[in-house]
Amino acid sequence: MGMNLTQKIIFSHLVEGSMIPGEEIAVRIDQTLTQDATGTMAYLEFEAIGIPRVKTELSVSYVDHNTLQTGFENADDHRFLQSTAAKFGVHFSRAGNGICHQVHLERFGVPGKTLLGSDSHTPTGGGLGMLAIGAGGLDVAMAMAGHPFYLNMPKVVNIRLHGKLAPWVTAKDIILEVLRRLSVKGGVGKIMEYSGDGVKSLSVPERATITNMGAELGATSSIFPSDEITKKFLEAQGRGHVFTPLAADPDAEYDEIIDINLDELEPLIALPHSPDNVKKVSEVAGQKVDQVFIGSCTNSSYVDLMKLAKILKGKTIAPNVSLVVAPGSKQVLYMLSQNGALADIVASGARLLECACGPCVGVGQAPSTGAISLRTSNRNFEGRSGTKDAKVYLVSVETAAASAITGIITDPRTLEEPIVVEMPEKFAIDDRMIIPPPVDGSNAEILRGPNIKPLPKAEPLPDEIRGRVLLKVGDNITTDHIMPAGAKILPLRSNIPAISKHCFEAVDPTFPDRAEKAGGGFIVGGANYGQGSSREHAALAPLYLGIKAVIAKSFARIHRQNLINFGILPLAFEDERDYDEINQATARDGDELVIENAREGLLSDTIEVKNVTRGRTFKVKHNLSDRQKEIILSGGLLNFAGKK
Ligand code: F3S
Repeated sequence: MGMNLTQKIIFSHLVEGSMIPGEEIAVRIDQTLTQDATGTMAYLEFEAIGIPRVKTELSVSYVDHNTLQTGFENADDHRFLQSTAAKFGVHFSRAGNGICHQVHLERFGVPGKTLLGSDSHTPTGGGLGMLAIGAGGLDVAMAMAGHPFYLNMPKVVNIRLHGKLAPWVTAKDIILEVLRRLSVKGGVGKIMEYSGDGVKSLSVPERATITNMGAELGATSSIFPSDEITKKFLEAQGRGHVFTPLAADPDAEYDEIIDINLDELEPLIALPHSPDNVKKVSEVAGQKVDQVFIGSCTNSSYVDLMKLAKILKGKTIAPNVSLVVAPGSKQVLYMLSQNGALADIVASGARLLECACGPCVGVGQAPSTGAISLRTSNRNFEGRSGTKDAKVYLVSVETAAASAITGIITDPRTLEEPIVVEMPEKFAIDDRMIIPPPVDGSNAEILRGPNIKPLPKAEPLPDEIRGRVLLKVGDNITTDHIMPAGAKILPLRSNIPAISKHCFEAVDPTFPDRAEKAGGGFIVGGANYGQGSSREHAALAPLYLGIKAVIAKSFARIHRQNLINFGILPLAFEDERDYDEINQATARDGDELVIENAREGLLSDTIEVKNVTRGRTFKVKHNLSDRQKEIILSGGLLNFAGKK
């Protein structure tokens, strides 16, 4: 029997395991990436592992999230990252050079290689035929130290694209259609592998828009074949030599097959506050728009912004709309400025931002109170924009641009002539903002400012875990809820004691104080707890506040692994009805829970939890592999690695 593309890449990188879906496997990692919001921790962790230089083929440290410098903190962090890159043998992409995933696609991605990144949208690299996976910073630090990456062998879903998109319908609409069908939980434990004749009509950046938002499905990764289109893209980036053709075998098997007829798709839109709340643009057209943001790692490529320029040419944005544009990379911005497209964008009244994540991560351009913001980014969780009651809608560049002109949500098919943008034969290649590491970093000094605080220490798992339920939350709690982003909080990313004070801020601001006073306790969650980003601060802050276990209906993959990495037990209700039997803790402390013989309990599949307050007992499952049990028993991955 032949293999699908995912199996081929995993097989060629397999270190441990049998490739049976659901079983733990270990894969060799060729490349890593970090961004600044997760990177400072990742390099502190790499330093703690004690290996002098990275052992990967290539590692890149990007600065794209916290680029605002309103105080010393971010600037200090950037300096720290530049100095650790030199010391440890990592390429450093300076602030202003662009968003990690866009730049990685342009300058570093290689078909058939594995990429592990401390950012949940790392699967963007799947647009180039890479097996690209998002993980916590500690997993990335371990990969840089030469350890394999452990994950459960995913199921492989074949998404077959048939036909061709109609004018004004885009790659963004394809992934919104997948989200509409499968929901934000639909990809959990799966890799989405695209094939079919429809693939041939999609450029690499368009494919990358689709693999990027596979993260919103909860998928482990998403991947496209590497074909003539991939080759042309790499050649245009001056990297034709790294091309390898890659595709599934003709007789490959899949765990699931989904068919999408591209001809039948229409422009789509994800309504607040979830990327799977998808409707046709035509169904919601006419609503007034206050802000339009075009950018992010989903839609800020050269082709995206050329389309924007063509739509805006000679037009003026509506008086009620603030249009903000953040190009994905310096390469994109430079090419737009060279060919005159930037002039068309600026002339329309658009506000140009630097090549960075910006509004996507709540750094700048918070919408006005209650505003409707149309964005080409990938997430529309409540409050992520920086304005609690703003309503964020996710759309294609075409829909965003059309709406910016009219001032209302507009189906782009109502515009005049369809626009055509060709991929350039040659991109403008200039890597001066990427600093390669010196051959020998032993004399390089690590520069730490006062904002860089040591990592919190995790203790081995105690025999008895006793504490109050300090917080009970509902379904689909995101890492943004647990550890918010935004311009005020992001500068504290290297300072766990300070950032912990904001843990669950929007849910219950009394939580950090109560947790610290209680010396720890439990968090109780609903389904898909910890969905969203890879930020390990969502585990590090609860660890610092003394949380020993989170009991939820189910967990998002990366967050669950982050909890394990920091020695926090992720426990799932065996019977979800037990969730209802636990007292809601808000301003006051909730039920007292006890897990007796917690260490021994890990040996069996289920653990008993006593609810002392209510005089009842319920069962939870841990689903930990033997290796994960060892990590939890040791008090986290750093302790575990130190013992080996
Ligand atoms: Fe940055 Fe937003 Fe992507 S924060 S990496 S542009 S999801």
